[in-house]
Amino acid sequence: MLTEMTNTQMRYIILALALAMGIVSAQAQSQPANLIPAPAEYNVHPGTVSRDKMNGSHEKVRISEKAMLRRLEGRKLTDWQLKSAYWLEVGPKGVKIEAADQEGVFYARQTLRMMAEPDSMVNCCTVLDWPRLRYRGMMLDVSRHFYGKDFVKKQLRMMALLKMNRFHFHLVDNPGWRLQIDTYPRLTQLTAWRPQAYFWDWEKNEIGGPFAVEGTPGAYGGYYTKEDIREILAYAAERHIEVIPEIEMPGHNYETRAAYPELACSLPKGGKDPWELCPGKEHTYEFLENVLLEVFDLFPSQYIHIGGDEARKNNWKVCPYCQARMRAEGLKDVNGLQSYMIRRIERFARAHGKRIIGWDEILQGGLAPDATVMCWHGTEAGVQAAKEGHDVIFTPTHYYYLDYHQDPDQYRPVGRCVTLEKVYSFEPVTERIPEADAHHVSGVQGNLWTEHVQEEWHAELLLYPRLFAIAETGWSQADRKSWPDFERRASALSAAARKWGYRVY
Ligand code: ACM
Ligand code: ZN
Repeated sequence: MLTEMTNTQMRYIILALALAMGIVSAQAQSQPANLIPAPAEYNVHPGTVSRDKMNGSHEKVRISEKAMLRRLEGRKLTDWQLKSAYWLEVGPKGVKIEAADQEGVFYARQTLRMMAEPDSMVNCCTVLDWPRLRYRGMMLDVSRHFYGKDFVKKQLRMMALLKMNRFHFHLVDNPGWRLQIDTYPRLTQLTAWRPQAYFWDWEKNEIGGPFAVEGTPGAYGGYYTKEDIREILAYAAERHIEVIPEIEMPGHNYETRAAYPELACSLPKGGKDPWELCPGKEHTYEFLENVLLEVFDLFPSQYIHIGGDEARKNNWKVCPYCQARMRAEGLKDVNGLQSYMIRRIERFARAHGKRIIGWDEILQGGLAPDATVMCWHGTEAGVQAAKEGHDVIFTPTHYYYLDYHQDPDQYRPVGRCVTLEKVYSFEPVTERIPEADAHHVSGVQGNLWTEHVQEEWHAELLLYPRLFAIAETGWSQADRKSWPDFERRASALSAAARKWGYRVY
């Protein structure tokens, strides 16, 4: 009987036996050409299917937690992982999806979309997949240069495809306030516009330049109305992306002080540091709380990013209001004053059902336990924060600062050279974090600061393909990562992304 079999039939029988005996594990299988992030388990089956059977017209979906738990038998997943997990079968007649939640179905469809991209025929296969880390983010600085809502939506589409789920919206900073706030209209009327388009033509010697009143002919800038934000939020929510707004304090507030000078310390010309709010004055808290109330109203995220980075604190050492506050609260130095402010805002946020995230400087002087630390100075602060029981998001400059160049010859290079391989090499769950605290590693995020990024195409060139690497580190199980395989997949996905209209380096 064996002699009557074709070679192909023989191969299928051997493959089926090997799969049944567990000889051919998911690890031994290569990934589809351009699938990023790599799924937890992927197995090829005999046969191929045409991509027109993968576009939803031949799709069977079952949402059942019980069924999904059966599929995941033996694998220990947390509740949030289970929500995002999916099982997928691509067969000759079409596609079957199983998931515990709509979110899992959504991620299964992203996998299908990527798989179907380059070829007209796709290998039949099964995929069982779930995320490694719960926070898989991208930050966009829209203050240094302003990007319209269509550009934001375009990046949200790519994030969704990469199974990224947090968009950190850096809405306010020294060079421009970009969010409509009804209680304080001067923020956008006076400081969302400036005479010079390019940031470095505006900021000289770390001192910001002048702003332009809204409506000034030829002025550069812009801001998001509340309607714009609602549109972006709805677009993100459809893609299972949470938008986390950042309202910076107490540093990086040059624009806030330009609109409302009374928020500065009481010193001649506002003191030496032109960026900082006065944490001594009660009026500053009234302002911040009123702003935050509008932000809480608008953004459904449980999180509010309150900045906290790079306050120099020189003014505070001499401002009578700051000094009085330090005496009244028994604070021994200006770090204590910063800590007082952050803790006070944290209590305010908590009273409104929100939790704060801050850059790692918020650890200075002690921090409220509920706060999440966004670690950007290397990784040491993140290790310390996790050990102290804080959730941590890793955005280390030397790996995840996407404004840094990928190649010294590229357009307007700044910072260190951060290649795709360098980005890919970052491991957030470092052995320096004791195993018992490893659950505090919430995830990873790529930051696109935009001091030198004036054009949308330039922003995309810096984001892609490096964001692919961050997505894989956030989603894929650590043992599924492999640089040579990723490099091959990133190249294929880059080609697809170019076809979809992205600029990819
Ligand atoms: C930062 O780069 N200042 C967070
Ligand atoms: Zn002060």
